[in-house]
Amino acid sequence: MHTLSPDRVVVALADIVGSRACLASGPDTAAFTTDYRGIHHGKAAAVVLPANTRELSRVMAWCHAHDVPVVPQGGNTSLMGGAVPDASGQAVVVNLRRMNQVLEVDATNDTMTVQAGVTLSAARSAAEAAGRLFPLRIGSEGSCQIGGNLSTNAGGTAVLRYGNMRDLVLGLEAVLPDGRIYSGLRGLRKDNTGYDLKQLFVGSEGTLGIITAAVLKLMPLPRSSAVAFVAVASPAAAVALLGEAKKMAGQSLTAFELVSRPALELVLAYLGDASSPLEDSHEWMVLIELTSGVDAEALDQTLMQVLEAGLEAGLVLDAAVAASGADAQAFWRIREEISDAQTRTGGSIKCDVSVPLSRIAPFIEHATAAVLALQPRARMVIYGHMGDGNVHFNPLRPADCTAPAFLSACYEPVSHAVDSLAHAAGGSISAEHGIGVAKRDDLTLYKSPVELALMWQIKRALDPKNLLNPAKLLLDAPSVDAFDS
Ligand code: MLT
Ligand code: ZN
Repeated sequence: MHTLSPDRVVVALADIVGSRACLASGPDTAAFTTDYRGIHHGKAAAVVLPANTRELSRVMAWCHAHDVPVVPQGGNTSLMGGAVPDASGQAVVVNLRRMNQVLEVDATNDTMTVQAGVTLSAARSAAEAAGRLFPLRIGSEGSCQIGGNLSTNAGGTAVLRYGNMRDLVLGLEAVLPDGRIYSGLRGLRKDNTGYDLKQLFVGSEGTLGIITAAVLKLMPLPRSSAVAFVAVASPAAAVALLGEAKKMAGQSLTAFELVSRPALELVLAYLGDASSPLEDSHEWMVLIELTSGVDAEALDQTLMQVLEAGLEAGLVLDAAVAASGADAQAFWRIREEISDAQTRTGGSIKCDVSVPLSRIAPFIEHATAAVLALQPRARMVIYGHMGDGNVHFNPLRPADCTAPAFLSACYEPVSHAVDSLAHAAGGSISAEHGIGVAKRDDLTLYKSPVELALMWQIKRALDPKNLLNPAKLLLDAPSVDAFDS
């Protein structure tokens, strides 16, 4: 703990970044100290907005010398409270929004070099302007930033085809906790020169260094797409249909998203101006998307073949095929707005688990039974990226129960039941949202002592003073003895 007054911190950091880029705690900093869902509230000694890597390096060196904790922040869209400070008022928030330049698009090398504060949608647009695709696709693309996407290893709806952020990065630049700069902005697909240091920073939630720029992979821009909203007999039928789709559509299968009936009902009520693509009500649906660089007709035919095979096998109960780009957008809007519909409704227990596909159907069945045993009237908002085994299993408060009443009675037992069933099925308690503060205590239940000790050894090697995003992801450092045991 440092004993500097906030004024002293502000004066010292304003000297580095300029007074307009160093905000003292007050009404102007509220947006930086509260997460966007309004769940995690903190306080900062100052909020700093560096203009470039050199400035950030000097900020970090000063904070390191004075034992001031630093919380890195991109678009502040974390669902886990990973990007806001604690309530102590000791930490400095470093927001990367001013470092928002696309530095280079190299269409020959199929790479793009961007600063960390570039929003995902700006990165996608820059790629598209060069006739390329940057394939990460998540609902918050207008505000989330590439640095945050990397530090949380973001996933989203196209992982099935293109992988997550870890798979989409070739090079990185990051500022270390003591101010040194790791310069690895290389656009190489082959580079076997020792440890893959860039991957240390990916998914480490800003606890090892602050990512300032990255070289990202670009893909061919699809020319055609075919989209269907499909009622399936059960989660097991969805898994079987996914198998058929992979067989028949191969590489063109881009998304395979699961939607439960309560999830559809919730989002339609929230949107108000949307309707179900299907005539009847069904318990389970999937949104299937194929994309390709070749002609649309062939893709439409493949989608129809998948659906026919599904119908014949009794997997598919009904299907709506998008007849236009507008239809496809309307189907996607329903899927992508589920998250906001939950936020607005309040009282949602967000479990973001992944399970091997072979076990996902029994997992959903057992976890549903476990939740309903705790609260029989919970609305089972279950949806997500079934194609890659990631289920957002988010029980919602009964309509006549307040959010605080539901959360205080059910949050702990529900999360525990769902996470332990996922773990028992060989899964993960955080597929794509990370750990932050929300899952930090649970992590210690599901990682082995060796894994936790290794994580702490890496943390100590890079951040021996534990100043960078402290108490996120990892809470209490084990005693030094524990590393030897
Ligand atoms: C999504 O896939 O919509 C988000 O990752 C889910 C969420 O907000 O829980
Ligand atoms: Zn998701």
